Amino acid sequence: MTFHPVALTIARTSDAYEYLICHMTKNTKVIAVSNQKGGVAKTTTSINLAASLAMADQRVLLIDLDPQANLTSGVGLKGQSTAAGTVYDALTTEGTPAQEFVLATGVDHLFLVPSDRHLTGAEIELVTMTDRDQRLRKFVNALRGEYDYIFIDTPPSLGLLTLNALVAADTVLIPLNCEYFALEGIADLMSTLDRVRTSLNPGLAIEGVLLTMYDDRTNLGQQVGGNIREYFGEKVFNTVIPRNVRLGEAPSHGVPVILYDARSRGAEAYVALAREFLTRAQQTAVPTTH
Ligand SMILES: Nc1ncnc2c1ncn2[C@@H]1O[C@H](COP(=O)(O)OP(=O)(O)O)[C@@H](O)[C@H]1O
Ligand SMILES: [Mg+2]
Repeated sequence: MTFHPVALTIARTSDAYEYLICHMTKNTKVIAVSNQKGGVAKTTTSINLAASLAMADQRVLLIDLDPQANLTSGVGLKGQSTAAGTVYDALTTEGTPAQEFVLATGVDHLFLVPSDRHLTGAEIELVTMTDRDQRLRKFVNALRGEYDYIFIDTPPSLGLLTLNALVAADTVLIPLNCEYFALEGIADLMSTLDRVRTSLNPGLAIEGVLLTMYDDRTNLGQQVGGNIREYFGEKVFNTVIPRNVRLGEAPSHGVPVILYDARSRGAEAYVALAREFLTRAQQTAVPTTH
């Protein structure tokens, strides 16, 4: 069958065509950014990797699954929610279409499901709910096809919220800060991943391990980086995120570092990470059925 070129041009710009393309060709990858330690750059990595991918024309959704809601404030949407509510409502209520929880951010192609303090209660409320560890998976699966990547920023614990993220995800990205205790607790995270694989999510893979807050002037940084590479091998991203003051400042302005100071070492590092991430993603197949 052939189409008149003008008809084809009109069709390609129509909403229906856009819808078709989204639903037929997009193979969404869902990545949980996880490490039960606080302060290892989970949120910083979620914001800045996602924003760098969005700037490379990828459609990206961030899900803030931490009651501290640092991710929500980091993209300038502190205290905001949709008419449907926040991620708390998405997890604890039924019947609202998932897309109604999504907010646009100030960055093109970058979207957010916001969080707030209410989410603290979800850890407890979920315990008595049916499918308590699969609530997020249901929500996320309803959004597959709409985005190229969905990043879930998790809280600093291995509780029910993190479990929901690991059950919903295709892969886990593990940020490790290059300090002496970096690998402490990693065995717990690994055994949680194993447990999730043997029960609810057999396909869960490690996306990569990211060295953050790296200070190459100290022997300690190099030594810890070396130990991590020994432990995780090929899984460690070649890109390393240096300690950079701009990365700490950007969230208070509600923007990703690339919009705050694009020339900073922090911004450059996350853009390099996005490039490496995309190259790796092309090399690994994404599961199509869920
Ligand atoms: N590479 C970095 N250089 C300097 N400060 C950083 C860097 N990465 C993160 N930070 C800062 O460190 C703190 C902890 O980072 P955050 O991303 O909130 O960690 P987590 O989400 O794992 O708790 C934040 O204040 C953040 O701005
Ligand atoms: Mg955080």
